[in-house]
Amino acid sequence: MRVIAIDGPAGAGKSTVAREVARATGLQYLDTGAMYRCVALSVLRQHIDPFNEEAVGHVARSVSIDVQGVRAFLDGVDVSAEIRTPEISNTVSIIAAHTPVRDAMRMQQRQWIETNGGGVVEGRDIGTVVFPDAVLKVFLWASPEVRATRRVDQTGDDFDEVVRNITERDRIDSTRSDSPLRPADDAVSLNSSSIAVGDVVATIVQHFQERDGR
Ligand code: DC
Repeated sequence: MRVIAIDGPAGAGKSTVAREVARATGLQYLDTGAMYRCVALSVLRQHIDPFNEEAVGHVARSVSIDVQGVRAFLDGVDVSAEIRTPEISNTVSIIAAHTPVRDAMRMQQRQWIETNGGGVVEGRDIGTVVFPDAVLKVFLWASPEVRATRRVDQTGDDFDEVVRNITERDRIDSTRSDSPLRPADDAVSLNSSSIAVGDVVATIVQHFQERDGR
């Protein structure tokens, strides 16, 4: 499958880079973080305890999630703005650590790739677990200060709150037992603190074209 996996911590610039890479390669783009955020939104709306693995797993299996580019639909309703609130950012890593949730999301991600004939997929476990046979795996990272500054510029949220949130999410995402955030052994590692976005995109596209064989 023609998959480009782009993994990395919150605020490393994955979405911007993945969208640009999709445009340059003609592949579709999938933001898997938005899928986990939709589950978190449904959990909060139903007043379910995010730590209750069984109940949250049931939500993940029963909701309809449709992520199309930058838009996300939960049970047919556009929730693109609602899934970006600090409340969701503070909850999403908790629900994403549950294996039943991850099983449900992975199944949908693999179906999406089948339907689209490949794609640029961003997340945390895409190269390590979801698509271990991806043509290209990228691990995109940046210093915590740079990542927090980017998030504040995008959202206008409080800087200290953003630092706390991404530090805590990094901790939960990289220490969970099911598919923790880590670079795949064969990933190309790029530091977006020191390389301009355009150069990151160009590097990824070049690696892809060398390996794609089309
Ligand atoms: O990319 P993001 O910040 O929107 O992701 C939100 C959360 O979803 C992130 O903190 C961890 C989780 N996530 C995950 O566990 N696995 C993925 N493939 C994508 C996101």
